[in-house]
Amino acid sequence: MGERYAPTESRILRQLAVAALLKVAACKPPPDDRVMPSADAVERGKDVIERVSCGSCHVIPGIDWPRGRAGPSLEGFDDVGLIAGALPNTPGNLAAFVRDAPATKPGSTMPPMPISAAEAQDVAAYLYGMKDE
Ligand code: HEC
Repeated sequence: MGERYAPTESRILRQLAVAALLKVAACKPPPDDRVMPSADAVERGKDVIERVSCGSCHVIPGIDWPRGRAGPSLEGFDDVGLIAGALPNTPGNLAAFVRDAPATKPGSTMPPMPISAAEAQDVAAYLYGMKDE
């Protein structure tokens, strides 16, 4: 008797397992509307930050050295409302600012940095993707 129902039960179990897996996959998109940069862009951005040494003026999560203090700490930067107190914190504004701060925010004391527009986007991705330690 029991044996006759066993195949059906295992099929139901399998369907439940598949449904559970689909649910996990469906949960992949970010739960909120924060910027979620790709891992590749974040990795490239880190390389750029290290190459041009943004850390000589900024404390930046994930960059161990240098940890300069001429500029504001970038810890928790993804939660900052305005970039340098002036620009809405959007990926486009951030990329423009980190490449050429004085052109983006007149009077900014952060010097223009020797990075391409694409590199600036990767840097912005890193700043949005970093987790504070
Ligand atoms: C020579 C020192 C110096 C270097 C190098 C430098 N910065 Fe800055 N940075 C500053 C200063 C000073 C400010 C504040 C500017 C202002 O308020 O206009 C600033 C502001 C910022 C801000 C805005 C912070 C906030 O809280 O709104 C970001 C983001 C930033 N820098 C990222 C970078 C990145 C990324 C690099 C490397 C590509 C970099 N900086 C290189 C000095 C520097």
